[in-house]
Amino acid sequence: MAKRIISTELMEEDRKLENTLRPRTLDDYIGQVKVKENLKVYIEAAKQRKEPLDHVLFFGPPGLGKTTLANIIANEMGVGIKITSGPVIEKPGEMAAILNNLQEGDVLFVDEIHRLNHQVEELLYPAMEDFAIDIVIGKGASAKSIRLELPKFTLIGATTRAGMLTPPLRDRFGVVNRLDFYTVEELKQIVLRSADVLGIEIDDEGAGELARRSRGTPRLANRLLKRVRDFAQVQYDGVITREVAAFALDKLDVDKLGLDHIDREILVTMIEKFGGRPVGIEAIAATIGEDVGTIEEVYEPYLVQNGLILRTARGRVASELAYRHLGIQRFME
Ligand code: ADE
Repeated sequence: MAKRIISTELMEEDRKLENTLRPRTLDDYIGQVKVKENLKVYIEAAKQRKEPLDHVLFFGPPGLGKTTLANIIANEMGVGIKITSGPVIEKPGEMAAILNNLQEGDVLFVDEIHRLNHQVEELLYPAMEDFAIDIVIGKGASAKSIRLELPKFTLIGATTRAGMLTPPLRDRFGVVNRLDFYTVEELKQIVLRSADVLGIEIDDEGAGELARRSRGTPRLANRLLKRVRDFAQVQYDGVITREVAAFALDKLDVDKLGLDHIDREILVTMIEKFGGRPVGIEAIAATIGEDVGTIEEVYEPYLVQNGLILRTARGRVASELAYRHLGIQRFME
């Protein structure tokens, strides 16, 4: 599958960009208003009690700021942060070492926490609950278990698939937050802020056009901002106006709703190959050669959120809006 400019997955080129642009405090963080307000209270309360913050889970589509929020929490709590991810930790011993090396009060951020292996996950239960783990040393008859006290810490877990977390793990998070797609207005503010940080000239309408086409996702807005700047510099006079943004995004194959050729292929497949009748996700995946998980996690949420795909009891159907957007005539049977 060719790389999509609008993939919301973290790419190597995003890493540096995101580190530069990442807000450091909740006050600088745009959007996710409810999550932010609640976090402010929990952080303040924990600080007053001089306790670590309760364990926090973030879930939602990629690129919406889960890692950013984990960094902000550590910063606001005035503690250190250790960052790892589910598939990276292969053995319980590795997790035990990470936990044991934390400083009192630190944040441990585990991205893709739904991908932890079972044994590692089980080690987390007592660690989260009692800040202690039981370690077995020796083998056979002489084996014995010793209890290792851990520094008190805050586990922050992030996942794109909340449904794939086991109940015992999910239940051990005191604070569970769903991140939603950003509004166009919020994305516009983010684009203006990023342009300011990077020294890119952009006007209000240029930022609005970028915001409308960034599928509710800051990671994408920031990536597209950089690409559009190149067009502004080489083919225009350097300022990103609405015209420049629209021209560049058309060139990048990002349409007026932020869809790219794969999104459109999904919709066209539903309409033309399946005649607009309700269709299962497996059938769509097989037809366009993508895996079911990727379609469900990455493509579909935005299409559903924007009313292009309707989920019915009998399957997915393309909406009236999808027909109109694609310019396909709808024949009633
Ligand atoms: N950059 C990326 N996400 C952001 C956000 N939510 N607020 C401010 N800047 C951002």
